[in-house]
Amino acid sequence: MVIMSPSSAFLPVLERIAAEIEAMPGRGRSADYIPALASRDPRRFGMAVAELDGTVYGVGEWRQPFSTQSITKVFTLALDLAREGDALWEHVGREPSGNPFNSLVQLEYENGIPRNPFINAGALVVTDRLHTRTGDASGVLLGFLRAESGNQDLTFDREVAASEAAHGDRNAALGHFMASYGNIGNPVPVLLEQYVRQCSIEASCADLALAAGFLARHGIRADGTRLLTRSQAKQVNAVMLTCGTYDAAGDFAHRVGLPGKSGVGGGIIAVVPGRCTLCVWSPGLDERGNSVAGVAALDRFTTLTGLSVF
Ligand code: DON
Repeated sequence: MVIMSPSSAFLPVLERIAAEIEAMPGRGRSADYIPALASRDPRRFGMAVAELDGTVYGVGEWRQPFSTQSITKVFTLALDLAREGDALWEHVGREPSGNPFNSLVQLEYENGIPRNPFINAGALVVTDRLHTRTGDASGVLLGFLRAESGNQDLTFDREVAASEAAHGDRNAALGHFMASYGNIGNPVPVLLEQYVRQCSIEASCADLALAAGFLARHGIRADGTRLLTRSQAKQVNAVMLTCGTYDAAGDFAHRVGLPGKSGVGGGIIAVVPGRCTLCVWSPGLDERGNSVAGVAALDRFTTLTGLSVF
C-alpha cells in the first residue's frame, strides 16, 4: 500500500532541513570510477520519509530516480537471509572493516571470508548465494523493490551496468580471490554480471524509503507478510549501523545515530525502527564514498526530531 501524502508531521522538518543545508548540495564529487556516473550533477538533492503505513512524502527531487548502487546490498542481504538464515554468517562476517568499500587487503588474512555484507567482497558473497538459491538474484531484487515501493517502472540502467562492467577489475579480483577459497559458488563472470545489474537499478528517494519499510516494521513487508524474523531485521539494522557507511560508520553513528546504508550514486537510506524510514540523495560524495549533503541532512533530521536508536 502506497499513500501519497502532501502533509505530515515530518514535512515541516524536511522543509527546514532543505533550507538549512541549501549550500551543501554541490560539495564533494560525483563518483567517477564508473564513467556513466561521473556526469551526474552533484548539486541535486532530494529527501523522503516513509511512515510504517506506507505514507510517503518529501522535499526537493524526492521523486527523481538515481543510481542505487550499494544501497541494494541491504536488500540482497535481507532476501538471502530470509532464505538461508544463520548459515549465511558462516560465509560472511558482521564486523566493521575500517577499510574502503572495495578494499582487498583483509581477505587473504581472513581466508576469503569478507568482514561484512556491505563491503564489495561481502556483497559479492551475498549475491552469489542469492543467485544460487533463486537462479536470478538481480531479477528477484528488482521484483522485491517494485513490490515494496509499488513502482512497477523500476528498472536496470543498462548503460551504468555496462560502464561498471567495463571498469570492474577490482570486483573481478575480489570474486576470483574468494572463489579460490571456495566461498563463491557461481562462475565469477556470472556473479559479476548479476552484481553490476543489481547496482545499476534506478530508484527515487520515495521508492527506496518505501522499499526499506520492512526494516522499520521489524521484518514485515508492505503487504503485511513477513520477510524476516524480528531478530533478523535487528541483525540487518545492526550491520547497517556498524558497517553501512564503510570506514565512515563510526562518524555516521556519531552524527546520525541510525542504521544507514550509502551508495556511490549519492543515495543513503536510514531506518528509525518502529517509526519510519528515510532516503536522501545528492550525488556529491566525500572521500569515503558517502553523500556530503545526504549525511548532513540525516544529521539535521535526527537532531531536530530527536529520533535515533540511542
Ligand atoms: O562495486 C562498486 O564499486 C559499486 N557498484 C557499488 C559501490 C558503492 O556504491 C559503494 N558505496 N558507497
